[in-house]
Amino acid sequence: MAGRIPQAFIDELIARTDIVELIGSRVQLRKAGREWKACCPFHNEKTPSFWVSPDKQFYHCFGCGAHGTALGFLMEHDKLPFPDAVDDLASRLGLEVPREGGDGARPKRDEGIYELLAQVTQFWRDSLRESARAKQYLAGRGITTETCVKFAIGYAPDSWDAVLKRFGGNADRERMLLEAGLVIERSGKGESGCYDRFRDRIMFPIRDARGRPIAFGGRILDAGEPKYLNSPETPLFHKGRELYGLYEARQALRKIERLLVVEGYVDVVRLAQSGIAYSVATLGTATTPEHLNRLFRVTSEVVFCFDGDRAGRAAAWRALENALEHARDGRQLRFLFLPEGHDPDTLVGEEGAPAFEARIASATPISEFLVTQLAAQADLSSVDGRARLAELARPLLARVPPGVYRELLLERLAQEVRMPAGRLAELLRARPEASRGAGIHGGPRPAQGGRPARSAGRQPLLTQAIMLLLHHPGAARSVAATPDWLAAEQKGFAVLRELLETARAEPGLSTAQLVERWRERPEGARIAELAGEESLVGDARAAGRELATLLERIGAELGPERRLNELIEFARERRLTEQEQKEFQGLLGARGKPPGR
Ligand code: UTP
Ligand code: MN
Repeated sequence: MAGRIPQAFIDELIARTDIVELIGSRVQLRKAGREWKACCPFHNEKTPSFWVSPDKQFYHCFGCGAHGTALGFLMEHDKLPFPDAVDDLASRLGLEVPREGGDGARPKRDEGIYELLAQVTQFWRDSLRESARAKQYLAGRGITTETCVKFAIGYAPDSWDAVLKRFGGNADRERMLLEAGLVIERSGKGESGCYDRFRDRIMFPIRDARGRPIAFGGRILDAGEPKYLNSPETPLFHKGRELYGLYEARQALRKIERLLVVEGYVDVVRLAQSGIAYSVATLGTATTPEHLNRLFRVTSEVVFCFDGDRAGRAAAWRALENALEHARDGRQLRFLFLPEGHDPDTLVGEEGAPAFEARIASATPISEFLVTQLAAQADLSSVDGRARLAELARPLLARVPPGVYRELLLERLAQEVRMPAGRLAELLRARPEASRGAGIHGGPRPAQGGRPARSAGRQPLLTQAIMLLLHHPGAARSVAATPDWLAAEQKGFAVLRELLETARAEPGLSTAQLVERWRERPEGARIAELAGEESLVGDARAAGRELATLLERIGAELGPERRLNELIEFARERRLTEQEQKEFQGLLGARGKPPGR
């Protein structure tokens, strides 16, 4: 991407766009009191449960849980990547999108690099046509000419300077080649200049949402190391974000009902060639949260494909951990394990697409994989074993957004341990870990003063405070200073602290603007969700008072109490430092005093 888009500009977009008008241009909205409603565009329904709030500049569906700002709506509904959604909103308002770094030449320069990458792609395609050896290699792997055209596959000739000579021209062009990751700078003594990164390799262009090549994977023709050479990270290419084959899948299919995530370039290409056009590959990395966001922006069903061996199962487990927070009603997440020694490429070649699709159809649901993997780690015949299972499951279940899906998962787990779901739920709540589930991660309710918080308000205090700030950013003004205890390293504290400080530093920020600031961050999704929930407090004045009270209660109940427990834990393991001992004394002394001190 060209430099970051400044936050102030996003703020401006959100402030100037009318979400009702934007959504109204795509969905038939009807007025309902202060708000607008419609049948949700994100799931099938007959009675409207999709609400758009002009006050919050936010939409929310009570049926499927979809929610977000104007920007989020464009991304979800029109399936646009973030920068494109920004472009879209900006052009409606007749604004230029500024880029950080103050380099006005940057977008121009990026255009130059895109153009260069496209030219090099073409050059490699031409040179494939001229290389009998490369053509023979591809034919040997069963890849047809037609497929090569679809995927713009090429061949980088066996030369140190084929690209450099043809496209390097002058010093500036050479710098662009370097920035694009196409050439490498010589670093040895007395050496200078550059040489081609990709030599004698089959080239797979990685294309962005608009189909522009932004990077490459190059496979060696014979045995050798590395088997695949990939472009380095460049301003246009971030490996953890891209999915090989997504553009091609979109080209091939009118609607992407499902995406299959595989490991390799050739897997994607061979699957597509045999008629399974919906596969994508991560680029030699594990599936990142960014990948998952992308996947679910495009489809509601994702199947991860792994080797059936141990490494494959381990990789699958890592994918599961990241995927849990995406598990919700209306979505499907499954795992497909292939027989050992096979990958999709070889398998689809041997058994054909129908047999392979039958495998996909019977892939393991995420709930099943979760439960069986957990059950394998605990001896379920003993009480201890079941407790251990609950222990293992707790942090995982906490990642799943609350809702029908989480309930089902709980039920399935209960079935596995042959225990009523209610008892298991109790077991899961029994010893909420002090350092987790502080609300912001949607975990089980935290304990207050060590007791299960079943009688606490409908949300943990911390979540309540965060929600309040999101709904009424102006309430921050009634808090004179950030409480000291908020500096403690506890999940959720940092979020609350930051929200508080942002809202205070920039009076007038709206809910939607606050939410947008968290978009790229791990807590972003949860924050957006909380912002979409119904506000508990109506007017702004009441919100100020409520926030002050909440902070006082959290400070009194959560802050010191948790720290105290932490110190007790430390003391079991080692001698406390002098500082810690003092703190301990102080905390003990303060205990028992009424909240608020
Ligand atoms: P594999 O080693 O499983 O190879 O790498 P493959 O995809 O089956 O390759 P073929 O069939 O022998 O051609 C899986 C993926 O891991 C990345 C690539 O994205 C590859 O497609 N990889 C692998 C690298 O980036 N570098 C390597 O050296 C090897
Ligand atoms: Mn392979």
